[in-house]
Parts: sequence; structure tokens; C-alpha cells
Amino acid sequence: VKKIAVLTSGGDSPGMNAALRAVVRTANYYNIECYGVREGYNGLISNDFLKMGARSVKNIINQGGTILKSARSAEFRTKEGRQKAYDNCLKFGIDGLVCIGGDGTFTGAKIFSEEFGIRVIGIPGTIDNDIFGTDNTIGYDTALNTAMEAIDKIRDTATSHNRVFFVEVMGRDAGFIALNSGLATGALDILIPEKKDSLQDLFSNFRKAEKTGKASSIVVVAEGEKLGSIYDIANSTKEEFPQYDIRIAVLGHIQRGGSPSCADRVLASRLGYGAVVGLMDGQTNVMAGMRSNDVVYTPIEEAIKKHNEINKDLMLISEILAI
Ligand code: F6P
Repeated sequence: VKKIAVLTSGGDSPGMNAALRAVVRTANYYNIECYGVREGYNGLISNDFLKMGARSVKNIINQGGTILKSARSAEFRTKEGRQKAYDNCLKFGIDGLVCIGGDGTFTGAKIFSEEFGIRVIGIPGTIDNDIFGTDNTIGYDTALNTAMEAIDKIRDTATSHNRVFFVEVMGRDAGFIALNSGLATGALDILIPEKKDSLQDLFSNFRKAEKTGKASSIVVVAEGEKLGSIYDIANSTKEEFPQYDIRIAVLGHIQRGGSPSCADRVLASRLGYGAVVGLMDGQTNVMAGMRSNDVVYTPIEEAIKKHNEINKDLMLISEILAI
């Protein structure tokens, strides 16, 4: 490879900048020209390329968000859009594309590479941790810590007022943030899309808690929970336990921001390096991920189709320790 382009796409995640820095500096080290593309696939289509050198990525390893900006490009979902993107890649002589993002980003990368034969490699950057082929995605650890700190604060006020709090954390289709932040904050119950939750189980946990003298509780609800919205669940709980003083907190996008944790910076640095080296080794249509502390390459198709299992032990432990 002689010239590569790199972009960040989809929901941003803390550590994307660290990954970008690693891609640019690794390319620089191996004398590969590197272009940053602004606003995800939109920049490929609108020709928004920016030549990057080692100094273009100074002082960003500690910054949340993405200096390249991100987008979920509707135009890239069309054949015409992808044709324009390819024409621009040809114009710049790009022979490898590094796409940092989640499942939507990877789906786009896969189609693009299959249609035009351009070499692509993915780096998993999403707080959801819902990508197969890596133990953790970039940003997940930081988001977990953000959620944990927020729930700790909610617990202070919940305890002071003997209240029940339902706290919604992010995770469109996945319960990784909910399960781990819930375990780490001693949630009474954790509702996630991967397990079959029922209101009856939730109510029975409240009853058990009452018997042990628990006067306040936190229930962590994943955004993608199938039982209903957090408001429905809280309303049903109020009907069953009219005496409860219930509040709802939706943590939302604060979970996507902030300076990346050490673990995320190291992961992003290793995967950014791994992506460039992968391209140099002739890899394409794969994602660079980290498994058991080693960089591994997984076909993008598998990365988006398969799912990391929720750890059953964690579910059991959180139940045992909650009361
Ligand atoms: O995929 C990351 C994520 O933060 C999800 O957890 C959440 O459902 C979604 O993005 C929110 O997207 P948007 O920023 O477009 O509202």
C-alpha cells in the first residue's frame, strides 16, 4: 500500500482519536501517505480529504469525540453515492481504507470493498461493545466508567430519600454497558435485551429486597430492553408498589463523551497500528480486533453477523450480590 485514507463513522466513541493517531503515525512510520476523511462516508462522497502527517494528530490521544467528525451517511447507502466515493478514492490514488466505527460502518465498508475491489479494514469503535471478533470495542471501557460514576451519584440521592431509581444506559441492541455498570454499582435488577426479563421477576426482586430491609434501589435498564420503555416499566412498578417513590434517569449521550480511559487509549493504539500493518500484509474486508491481548483479524461479515455472548456468570453474580 502506498496511500491510505482513514475515517470515523457512526456514533462516536472515546478513543476514536487515539485510533486515528495510531493509524496516521503508523502509516507515517512506514512511509505510507495518509488522508483523513471528514464526516465519515459523507467526506468520501463530497471529496473532503485532508492530508495528515504525524503532527496533524498531536494532542488528541486524550480527547473524546473524533477530530475528523462522524456521520451516519444516508447517501453512502445508495449505489450512486458509493460510485462518487470510489471515484474520489481513484482521484487520490487511495489503495486502502481504514474505517473506524461500529456495525453500520462495517456494513458500508464491506459493500464498498465488494463492489469496487478497494481494500478496507475496520477498527471497532463503539461504546456498545456489540461487535464480534474483539473482546472490547474502543470506547466501551470509558462509557462503562462514565455510567458507573453517574449511577454512584444517583445512589447517593436515592439512599438519602429512600427512593427507587430506574436508570437507562445506552446500548441500542446490547446489554453490555447495563450488565457491567449494574454489577459495579450494586443494582437490584439489570434489564437487558439478551435475557428474557419479566415484570414479575422484577417485582419479586423488589419484594425480596424489602424483606431484607432495603430502603432504596437502583434498577439499570438497557436502552434496547425488550420489555418496554423505561417509562412503561417504571409506571407498572408504581402500580404494583404505590408506596414507592420512583424516579427515572436517562444517562444518554454523556456516555459517549469524555476523555478515553487508559484501557481505551491502549486498545485504540494497538488496533490503529494493527489496521495499517494488516493492510500492508494484504488483508482486506477484515476487522482488526483484540482477543486475549493479541491483535486478530476477523472477516467483517462475521464481525457484524455474529454476536459476543453476554457472560452468564456476570448475570448470576449480579443477582446473588444485589440483595
Ligand atoms: O451505537 C452507539 C449508540 O450510542 C447507541 O448506544 C445508541 O442507541 C445510539 O448510538 C444513539 O445514536 P444517536 O447518537 O444517533 O442518537
